[in-house]
Amino acid sequence: MHHFIYKDNELYCESVAIADIAKAVGTPFYLYSSATLAHHFNTFDKSFAELSHLTCFAVKSCSNLAILRLFSTLGGGADIVSGGELYRSLKAGIDPRRIVYSGVGKTEEELRYGLVSGILMFNVESEQELEKLQQVAQEQDLVAPVSFRVNPDVDPKTHAYISTGLAKNKFGIPIEQAEKVYLRAKEMSHIKILGVSCHIGSQLTEISPFTETLHKVKQFVSRLETHGISIEYLDLGGGLGVRYQDEKPPHPQEYARALKEEMEGLRCTLILEPGRVIVSNAGILVSQVLYTKRTGSKNFIIVDAAMNDLARPSLYDAHHDILPVIRQSGQAVNEDLEIADVVGPICESGDFLAKDRELPILGQGDLMAVMSSGAYGFTMSSNYNSRPRAAEVLVKDDQFYVIRERENYETLIRDENIPDFLE
Ligand SMILES: Cc1ncc(COP(=O)(O)O)c(C=O)c1O
Repeated sequence: MHHFIYKDNELYCESVAIADIAKAVGTPFYLYSSATLAHHFNTFDKSFAELSHLTCFAVKSCSNLAILRLFSTLGGGADIVSGGELYRSLKAGIDPRRIVYSGVGKTEEELRYGLVSGILMFNVESEQELEKLQQVAQEQDLVAPVSFRVNPDVDPKTHAYISTGLAKNKFGIPIEQAEKVYLRAKEMSHIKILGVSCHIGSQLTEISPFTETLHKVKQFVSRLETHGISIEYLDLGGGLGVRYQDEKPPHPQEYARALKEEMEGLRCTLILEPGRVIVSNAGILVSQVLYTKRTGSKNFIIVDAAMNDLARPSLYDAHHDILPVIRQSGQAVNEDLEIADVVGPICESGDFLAKDRELPILGQGDLMAVMSSGAYGFTMSSNYNSRPRAAEVLVKDDQFYVIRERENYETLIRDENIPDFLE
């Protein structure tokens, strides 16, 4: 369910005409619906109401302060993977006791930052990270709360780049080696074992990899108990998929039901780290057609958004529906269509938002919406080709708010220096 709908052939976000926002802020821009964000968060979170649980939104998927603040007002915590994400989460008002910190390469400085901020726990991904954390905690005279991210070697059946729980992936500690690491941690003076964590991948459209993982983790927790190690938190990561095209991902309630069954007999608080399922369909990328080029062998729609704005099509061959912001009457019934590539201005043939796509005929100046762009959209954007990054806009009812200004040429070079010898 989302709030991007046509009214009289004009695309609206909640009660605001998208063309009016484009007039005010220019293009391209990311546009989020606060009603959709809240609906998705609440639907997910409430699906687990019968279990002791904590929903930690995966900040990497969409990290704007306003959006993090929205989730914190709904009771959400944060799953972070860097000092920068910790900084954002705290600035947005997320309670540090609701923050879990994952990632294979946390620096000493980042470990210290997490520790002094009083986060709920570090999801430690290697024995060396554990040693480093013990050292940092000792220096700070603090005790570091940890869980270990185990790698269960389960196939999430998703794109290779977003599979994380296979033995060949860099993430976590192989589950068969993890027991030894827990025993080592138990002896450490400044480490407190709180949990077990895992995250097997993103955009999963089946439930069985999750339940298979939980089953393995459950057996592992029992083994730890025989060593006198009790587990308070079980962090299952994120990964629930969404519909971009014709996928049929399970509804969060179905997902929750399956996990609840598998949690039977465990007295842990479940931590969930959803990203995509909360924000993907709550955001779009709005762009304007600069030129069209019909070469005989191809039709190109050249727009002002590019792979630096939305990397997913170039990176994963990902599909995003494209809709005209103003629909010609009749297009609703598939008249006046053409097959075209929607491409950006970047100097790479891999710069496209859609390939060989059947679309309503778009002309110069027309606005179009790249749907389902809320997750891993703006957060993966870059300045490639020295393109200022897009603005981000949030709609609530009949109002819109610029929650991130468009970058400009000054901001592009703000942190660069020309050394004296070149002056
Ligand atoms: C550790 C961890 N948790 C949660 C997520 C969020 O995944 P998703 O957006 O698929 O829910 C990711 C994404 O890669 C992750 O690496």
